[in-house]
Amino acid sequence: MNDLLKLLRKRRSIRKFQDKSIPESDLESIVDAARFAPTARNAQPWEFVLIIKKNKLRELAGLAENGSFLDEAAACIAVFCVDTKYYLEDGCAATCNILLAATALGIGSCWIAGDKKPYCPQVIKLLNAPSGMKLVSLVALGYPQDRSAFNEPVKRNLKELMHWEKF
Ligand SMILES: Cc1cc2nc3c(=O)[nH]c(=O)nc-3n(C[C@H](O)[C@H](O)[C@H](O)COP(=O)(O)O)c2cc1C
Repeated sequence: MNDLLKLLRKRRSIRKFQDKSIPESDLESIVDAARFAPTARNAQPWEFVLIIKKNKLRELAGLAENGSFLDEAAACIAVFCVDTKYYLEDGCAATCNILLAATALGIGSCWIAGDKKPYCPQVIKLLNAPSGMKLVSLVALGYPQDRSAFNEPVKRNLKELMHWEKF
């Protein structure tokens, strides 16, 4: 199987991390991959905030209701977008690139919801985002703790969800 297709299957949401920092060059490579995602009208409405300081990761963990594991992550990338018509789609495409680039570098990741969550204004304030910016996602990053960090969520069967020409 082609390398990229293998990588897509390998990616899993990781929520248990080793106490080991990620080289800044790898974090930069991950954000670099994000900027190649497609965007409506090539708007590229995004900004990425990299968080590695423990106290800030802890604060984010306290805010994100389903992201308490952020306090054990080595880093977090907060994906923000300017409020364009397609900001959510654009920001989600960038978030997918982040998850896949991390996987390619042997770094575990988990998407934590941003947009629509009640904690968005607090995260926006904590990270000093300019007014009007939307928080699309927070991505927790770190080296997976061990095999048990890899959940194997059941994926729907190809035959069940694929329809040729019509339902
Ligand atoms: C929009 C979105 C929001 C998510 N938010 C959270 C979250 O807040 N906390 C979390 O632990 N996982 C979150 N996830 C990760 C999903 O739970 C995960 O992708 C799903 O269970 C499938 O597992 P997999 O990523 O290993 O394939 C989110 C994923 C998406 C796409």
